Amino acid sequence: MKVPFVDLGVQYTSIKEEIDSAVLKVISNTSFVGGTTVSQFEQQFAEYVGVNECVSCANGTDALEIALEALGVGNGDEVIVPAFTWVSTASAVCRVGAKPIWADVHPDFYTLDPDKVEEKITGRTKAILPVHFYGLPADMRPIMKIANKHDLKVLEDCAQAHGASVFGQNVGTFGDISTFSFYPGKNLGAYGDGGAIATNNPELSDKVRVIARLGQREKHNHVVIGRNSRLDSMQAAILSIKLKYLKEWTQGRQQVAKWYNDELASTSLKLPEVPEGFEHVYHLYVVQVKDRDSLQKYLTSKEIATQIHYPKSLNQLGLFDPQGAFPVSDAMSGGLLSLPMYAELTREQVRYVATSIREFYARG
Ligand SMILES: Cc1ncc(COP(=O)(O)O)c(C=O)c1O
Repeated sequence: MKVPFVDLGVQYTSIKEEIDSAVLKVISNTSFVGGTTVSQFEQQFAEYVGVNECVSCANGTDALEIALEALGVGNGDEVIVPAFTWVSTASAVCRVGAKPIWADVHPDFYTLDPDKVEEKITGRTKAILPVHFYGLPADMRPIMKIANKHDLKVLEDCAQAHGASVFGQNVGTFGDISTFSFYPGKNLGAYGDGGAIATNNPELSDKVRVIARLGQREKHNHVVIGRNSRLDSMQAAILSIKLKYLKEWTQGRQQVAKWYNDELASTSLKLPEVPEGFEHVYHLYVVQVKDRDSLQKYLTSKEIATQIHYPKSLNQLGLFDPQGAFPVSDAMSGGLLSLPMYAELTREQVRYVATSIREFYARG
């Protein structure tokens, strides 16, 4: 049995008619950039997240940079970032001239450990940048307490966690501003690149829109040195349709995770843990395993695709200032393995993955 890591085709097939007609509509009305298709999606997505304002942009990395710039983060500032995340979270901080300051992640949840944040605050700290990682929300309540106590801005990186929540409150609504990615493999994925910035603060959303739209307040009224970062109409039309199914697809992912949890409960694998009251949306289903590389090879031989998110913590990349040791982040990357995860995975496929994993360890 073949088990791909993600199958975007099966999802497309299930909504093909709607998608095809929406794409053809954009082509025939020739409104390729901007216009009502984009503004409608922005409204729908703001409603979905539970914020007043959403500004779409070209991708989740741009979204981070633009949000940081709108927050006024720049030269000489420090931003506290988890040592273990996707590179964009930290590179965006550098791109606006600031410095990412690593804080370790929690050993069970892999998100920014709130107990490791306060010790990183200096006179230069401007913001905290928690990441809702693999689909699990970071623990926002203590993070917000620390931010409020020290008068710091909070930018939530929600690229991997559309619709995740903490005691019913969605990610993206805790901090000052939040960012999303619509990269095709994301829980809400476009058919190309896309991103968005969400906030309840009208002043911030105005700044974001001006920065992302070439510094223009209105056409030809350029008020800051901006950039061009836009979600095109075709992607917006596709995302509007896909957004209607996102809850259902999230439930599909949660069902797949439950099957994995049941099937793998008796193994030595460390399975994803979810704190009480947190809703995990399983962008990825990541386990900690022994003999990771051999297991991955074995699964490949069984036509089961797996991935590693991520092979190195950011402090180990050799790209940024390492700032010493981060025991959890540094140790974790060697044993993590992401199993196939998407809403349409079948019970049989999950059983086959789990059986193959058990077989591998039974061989000794
Ligand atoms: C945590 C995180 N932040 C930011 C991004 C950047 O998003 P994009 O690929 O749309 O630029 C990603 C994408 O993988 C991500 O996983």
